[in-house]
Amino acid sequence: MTASPSSTEATSMRTRLCGSLRVEDVGAAVTLCGWVAKRRDHGEHLAFVDLRDHTGIVQCVVPGTVDVRSEYVIAVEGVVRPRPDGTANAELPTGEVEVGECVVTVLNPAEPPPFAVADRVEVDEVVRLKHRFVDLRRPSMQANLRLRATVNRALRAAMDRQGFVEVETPLLWAPTPEGAREFTVPSRLSPGACYVLPQSPQLAKQLLMVAGVDRYFQIARCLRDEDLRADRQFEFSQLDLEASFAGQEDVLEFVSEAVLDAAEAVTGVRPTDIPRMTWAEALDRYGTDKPDLRFGMELIDLTAVFEGTGVKAFGAASVKAIVLQDGAGLSRSRLDGITDRAKQLGAKGLAWFRVTADPGTGGDDPALALDSPLDRFLSDQERAGLLSATGASAGDLVLVVADEYRLACTVLGQLRVELGGRPVGEGPYRYVWVVDFPMFDGFDEAGNPVPAHHPFTMPHPEDLDRLESDPASVRSQAYDLVLNGWELGSGSVRIHRADIQSRVFSVLGIGEEEAQARFGFLLGAFRFGAPPHAGFAVGLDRLVAIFAGEDNIREVIAFPKTQSGADPMTGAPKPLAPGVLAGLGLQLIPSKG
Ligand code: AMO
Repeated sequence: MTASPSSTEATSMRTRLCGSLRVEDVGAAVTLCGWVAKRRDHGEHLAFVDLRDHTGIVQCVVPGTVDVRSEYVIAVEGVVRPRPDGTANAELPTGEVEVGECVVTVLNPAEPPPFAVADRVEVDEVVRLKHRFVDLRRPSMQANLRLRATVNRALRAAMDRQGFVEVETPLLWAPTPEGAREFTVPSRLSPGACYVLPQSPQLAKQLLMVAGVDRYFQIARCLRDEDLRADRQFEFSQLDLEASFAGQEDVLEFVSEAVLDAAEAVTGVRPTDIPRMTWAEALDRYGTDKPDLRFGMELIDLTAVFEGTGVKAFGAASVKAIVLQDGAGLSRSRLDGITDRAKQLGAKGLAWFRVTADPGTGGDDPALALDSPLDRFLSDQERAGLLSATGASAGDLVLVVADEYRLACTVLGQLRVELGGRPVGEGPYRYVWVVDFPMFDGFDEAGNPVPAHHPFTMPHPEDLDRLESDPASVRSQAYDLVLNGWELGSGSVRIHRADIQSRVFSVLGIGEEEAQARFGFLLGAFRFGAPPHAGFAVGLDRLVAIFAGEDNIREVIAFPKTQSGADPMTGAPKPLAPGVLAGLGLQLIPSKG
């Protein structure tokens, strides 16, 4: 074992990687290192050992017996040879060869693994995470980690090429106004005071703009104490960026370049330019600000069809519909289930219409009829209007929600995603920029508008004069990048002028004193020459999960937390020893109940 570690394969202990051996290597003497994937004995004279490293598995043939078990760490010396006729394994990239005349050295024995190190093995999540070091040996997990590294590399290169400077920002920080609950770190030197772990480098990057950095980026760790879901972890990473003397168009360009580069690095194909849609259009057509463009099934407006209707259920501000192609066959209990789901989402109800061919009309092109408990209440005009507006055909199912506009849209938008639809367009990845978000998202109990982004987001210049008089109608210069219905990232043009900032604070009900207490350091810095600036953050975990075809970002994170925020491997979070608490000047209050 004297190979020189000059290639990406060789080290001082091995000459080649298991998964790299091919017919061209026949005759080569090799030394391999890895884990025993499987051992089979053929009597006392021959043993087969499948040896695995991160590149794959190769069959090693050992004359005699060999005392190894699954997951033993071994080194194997032998000679590559073709497999005997008829024994090639088409499932394995190395399946045409084997390593013969092997001499095995046990580098470290291992206990039996808690589960098989192979893909498509059903294992409980907690067991997987408790033994994550074994779980990560599975080929799909190895592939995910490496895919993530590929994405990181491509993003870094793209940012570098575009003149962005990588700057690290602190993890021990002060609260930032982005809405998520924050993790706090008690200070030993200032008992009773705490640092806050940043939910993003938002304020730090804006300070870097005041500092003249011009174009900043970072693959930043962010921490948010929020409920965990498939697309949310406590700890996650962002490609975070900010640019001075730049506006929305510049940022969209910078981000598109980086994300499309990453897509190309992963898939080998550079997607075409990313289309754009306003927030209002996304809501109207897809019932969401995260439209999944992989399928059609757009929302259809029936408000005009049912204007002045006698159908009580449709006497609402807005009547919206979706068409589920070939959905007329859904059973009554399934339809009841969809209706319950609509109610759960906030609708007062849901009307369904099965579209059928009218048996009375016959012929090649029979007239359409509706099968629904509501059908007998519709006028002929309404029936015809519904059919022509939806364009539904025999066999389709029309789902209708009548309610306040936004609610009707969001309920159907959610049903659209849950019921799915036929794919439209090319390729598995459908990106879209959503622009012109509203500045505010409803009102709080005190009647103050709630900021839709963070309070440093610049209002749309055309709407600035309505900031005080009609805040609900004001758009912001905030934009999101959406991929396959997931919010991949978001950003905005920031307020750099004190006069606009104090108007926004005042509309939000944030007084001078509160503003100073919460983000005085940023406002203070802005008095020393803040350039116009804008930025964005891409959720890296989400991007990688989508590229990896995973439904949960946990699958692309080396050591994630469970749904309940625990780490079964380390046991975190753990109680602190009394001495540690005392050293931090902390005392635990027993929880009630
Ligand atoms: P925002 O809060 O929208 O914006 O976050 C940007 C992106 O980060 C990802 N993300 C998450 N990923 C995994 N787990 C989480 N808990 C989580 N929370 C957010 C999402 C999201 O789109 N500072 C601003 C950006 C800016 O304005 O420049 C920010 O953090 O993909």
